[in-house]
Amino acid sequence: ACIPWPIAIDGPAASGKSSLGMALARRFGYLFLDTGLMYRAVTLAALEAGVPPEDAAAGEFARSLDIRAEAGAETRIFVGGRDVTGRLREPEVEHHVSAYSALPSVRAAMVAAQRAIAAQGPSILAGRDIGTVVLPDAPVKLFLEASPEARAARRSRQAHEWGMAQEAAEARRDIEQRDRLDSSRAASPLRPAADAVVIDTTDLTLEEVIRFALELLGCD
Ligand code: CDP
Ligand code: CDP
Repeated sequence: ACIPWPIAIDGPAASGKSSLGMALARRFGYLFLDTGLMYRAVTLAALEAGVPPEDAAAGEFARSLDIRAEAGAETRIFVGGRDVTGRLREPEVEHHVSAYSALPSVRAAMVAAQRAIAAQGPSILAGRDIGTVVLPDAPVKLFLEASPEARAARRSRQAHEWGMAQEAAEARRDIEQRDRLDSSRAASPLRPAADAVVIDTTDLTLEEVIRFALELLGCD
């Protein structure tokens, strides 16, 4: 393939990271890892076990989990051998994931697992801190942005596809709360790496974003 790897894609909620990542991964036969799903899996397991993020043992609990991410054309997540992928968009997870992912001990465990996957071969990782922390030497870093309105409309449309009706206003509240927490935390806050190419996708279709990325990579 003509594109160097790994490729880092970061940005706020519903900016289009996984759609772009999956499209590029399919096109080039690369692995795609949606790291957000790993933080969602920790959150699901902690909620099920009754371990709140304030608990001093939350980090230890996260480290003890057997979380396996299967990176492929899309990402599947297993906790203790159980495929939990289909549960990671549930409202309970959505509302608490930013609190768990602010914990440095949780992040340390996830980052190590993510680097191990990226080392397996040509890969594309999407998240919040891929370009800044997980893969600071990645030769390609994209940071996707879009207005809160556009992102809420996208997420609301996706929620309907996922069988969980959610109005745009409610999606926007959820998204803005996570963005606030993700951007203001001390550990690996959401921000573009100094060498990332920032793409505002508010007025672009997914096809246009893909085309832009391919041109940038010099591979269309
Ligand atoms: O799909 P969406 O962009 O809405 O969220 P996600 O990528 O599934 O990420 C869910 C949450 O996980 C984020 O709101 C962050 O709190 C956390 N996360 C993180 O801290 N670092 C990453 N590399 C990826 C996600
Ligand atoms: O991974 P992230 O949360 O950043 O976003 P996503 O799950 O890829 O969701 C983006 C949604 O908006 C998908 O349904 C895309 O088809 C759509 N979309 C997009 O990704 N990019 C655009 N420029 C326009 C729409």
